[in-house]
Amino acid sequence: MPEAVLTLDDIHVRFPVKRNWRGQARTWAHALNGVDLTVRRGETLGVVGESGCGKTTLAQVLMGLQQPTQGQLRWNNDRGQPNVQIVFQDPQSSLDPRLPVWKIITEPSYVKGESQESVMRARASRLAQQVGLSPDYLNRYPHEFSGGQRQRIAIARALASDPDVIVLDEPTSALDISVQAQIINLLFTLQREHQLTYILISHNVSVIRHMSNRIAVMYLGQIVELGDTAQVLARQRHPYTRLLLDAVPVLGAPLPESGAQAIPELPGNRVLPTGCFFLDRCAFRKQGCEQQQQLKPVSTETPMHSVRCHRYDHDEPDGK
Ligand SMILES: Nc1ncnc2c1ncn2[C@@H]1O[C@H](COP(=O)(O)OP(=O)(O)OP(=O)(O)O)[C@@H](O)[C@H]1O
Ligand code: SF4
Ligand SMILES: [Mg+2]
Repeated sequence: MPEAVLTLDDIHVRFPVKRNWRGQARTWAHALNGVDLTVRRGETLGVVGESGCGKTTLAQVLMGLQQPTQGQLRWNNDRGQPNVQIVFQDPQSSLDPRLPVWKIITEPSYVKGESQESVMRARASRLAQQVGLSPDYLNRYPHEFSGGQRQRIAIARALASDPDVIVLDEPTSALDISVQAQIINLLFTLQREHQLTYILISHNVSVIRHMSNRIAVMYLGQIVELGDTAQVLARQRHPYTRLLLDAVPVLGAPLPESGAQAIPELPGNRVLPTGCFFLDRCAFRKQGCEQQQQLKPVSTETPMHSVRCHRYDHDEPDGK
């Protein structure tokens, strides 16, 4: 098994939403509520879940932009400082319009202290070639490029500093369908060539299915199901995963029996339930579901497929 790049141990993040007259927080939004996760070198981990479940907060924790309120994050590298780059959904707004492309691409190296222009230009030129951009265009500005080309620029910038992890936040959802496949293929090629580790955040289950080795399904700031993509998609164990996948019509696949239903809105995260977070919405609830649930292997035969659900406690491996 490839080595761990990073391990998250019981990560919590909460944001103050109401303060009293002294400025002390009275109400909190609980964005992450105990995330445990190991990310391995060279894998693509897909993170999926509805709006507000904590995907961006998780990305911010990885990037060091958000301190966990509780829990530990461990990076397995000898540089002392982890290097996480991000490719955003909308390359238009994530690229500085005032900078020529060669400067945008080499910005991360610039921050790290390389400053000789000829070195930076040569580096930008190599990176441009790697992402399929002509080095002749490096003096141009972002607005002179198409959406797909801008996303290539963002990917080149992410590659520039040899990152431990690249977070891909909905990397194709702002692009035309025809360009989406090209960007996905580029990401695959780069991953193979450079042994890159991706964390892919997406609402789009088809993209996750296509790109990820593993899937983490998030609900109210917790991972409720984690496993090999094929395994999880073939047999979803958590009732929420089923609901989530049923709500996504997959191109070419017959509609699920329940039809393409909408998922009811995520409940508020100001006061968290004491038991299973999904209890109020779950059709399979039973005695014991009012207890807090842990992420545990579905069965002893499938140690890599975990679920946070009382139905899969070891005494009932079939989840009946
Ligand atoms: N700065 C903040 N202050 C207060 N609440 C916040 C803050 N940032 C995030 N939250 C809350 O934390 C929860 C998780 O937010 P987050 O942005 O991580 O979700 P998400 O999964 O990325 O959603 P989306 O798919 O819409 O991008 C939400 O309920 C959100 O309202
Ligand atoms: S623990 Fe119980 S309520 Fe929660 S998802 Fe499983 S069956 Fe449903
Ligand atoms: Mg988000």
